[in-house]
Amino acid sequence: MSKSFKTFLKHTAKDFHNQSVNPPVVRASTIIFKSMQHIRKTQAKAQKNPTGGHYDYGRQGTSTTHILQKILTKLEESYHVFTTPTGFGAVFLAIFSVTRPGDEIIVSDPVYSPTRLLTEKFLKEFNIKTIFYNPSDLKTLEKNITKKTKLIFVENPGSNSFEFQDLGKIISIAKKNKILTAIDNTWATPYYFKPIKFGFDMSIVSATKYYSGHSDVMGGSLAVNKKVFSKIRAAERITGLRLGPDDAYLITRGLRTLDVRLDRHRENAKKVAAFLSRNKKFKLLYPYKKDSYNFRMWKKYYSGASGLMGLKIKSKNINSVRKFVNSLKLFGYGYSWGGFESLALHQERRETGIRKYLNLAKDEHLVRLHIGLEDPDDLIKDIKQALRYLK
Ligand SMILES: Cc1ncc(COP(=O)(O)O)c(C=O)c1O
Repeated sequence: MSKSFKTFLKHTAKDFHNQSVNPPVVRASTIIFKSMQHIRKTQAKAQKNPTGGHYDYGRQGTSTTHILQKILTKLEESYHVFTTPTGFGAVFLAIFSVTRPGDEIIVSDPVYSPTRLLTEKFLKEFNIKTIFYNPSDLKTLEKNITKKTKLIFVENPGSNSFEFQDLGKIISIAKKNKILTAIDNTWATPYYFKPIKFGFDMSIVSATKYYSGHSDVMGGSLAVNKKVFSKIRAAERITGLRLGPDDAYLITRGLRTLDVRLDRHRENAKKVAAFLSRNKKFKLLYPYKKDSYNFRMWKKYYSGASGLMGLKIKSKNINSVRKFVNSLKLFGYGYSWGGFESLALHQERRETGIRKYLNLAKDEHLVRLHIGLEDPDDLIKDIKQALRYLK
């Protein structure tokens, strides 16, 4: 019987041996074999079928990480998914695997700021040059392609500023010029957009966010197509960037309800966005207003929206912006997002100031809201009372 992904998520990875609904957590450094021949046989199997879960040492994983990889590979509709100790580990693995000294990479200007630091500063020391492109003007991407360009790195939507890009155009530019592509798809997850199926070579998700969903574990996933698989596998082995079994178990547990939670995040965010979009004091950064370019680009490529949004506030009084955020009672102030609880952050200049194309005026401020799984009417009431302080 063919079953949908939602059903697969609920039923997969039962432990038939112990008759438990959930698989055991298998922790291992040493794996014991029956004989030397058994070791060699397992290694031969691993060589023949590198995604098949044949391990000879704990650093390569155990059945617990293998189960998670199998679920994610199905969700991504990819050739394989590598799992890493953090989402940023997956970003690093993607870039490190395919770039070498002398190469150039083109990166979308509003990437997650540690990704920016990695490319702009750290890779520079290894003679890898980064050029940033404007997510709203892909001519700035195309004109910077040279013979040395190895990789186009996209994050969609843009971190904190939420620009949606023409992903189809990016893929066609990359294919025409034979350049590899990677996307940070943490905002949507493959539940709402499947990058590998769409044409990207690599797709990153911080599992810390919606996959886990409960703000109690860190992890990352890097989905790949067949073309780049061997390169990533070689780099994964040499860097030892692998997720541990306890974290893999927690992420698998979170994934069981990914669809249910994301559907609710989407509906809650839509209600809050409807309220926020009526306020003249700020611009809502979320695919809500049908006449905008961002909405059209989102609609063209995505089947849904998650709970993370932004506000671009115009105010000469920065303290009133801080007061607005500080007065929210149901929103926690803290980094990360994707958990069940709502969060708010005022982005300080040091976090947004290094962008080339952000063009934020002195009296403009960015606030990020993660809309959680609380009753959206309560969240709206909370925002309403806090807005009294915004001058
Ligand atoms: C878009 C995006 N990508 C990657 C990461 C890094 O993930 P992690 O915190 O799991 O390392 C984050 C973290 O906030 C993020 O927002």
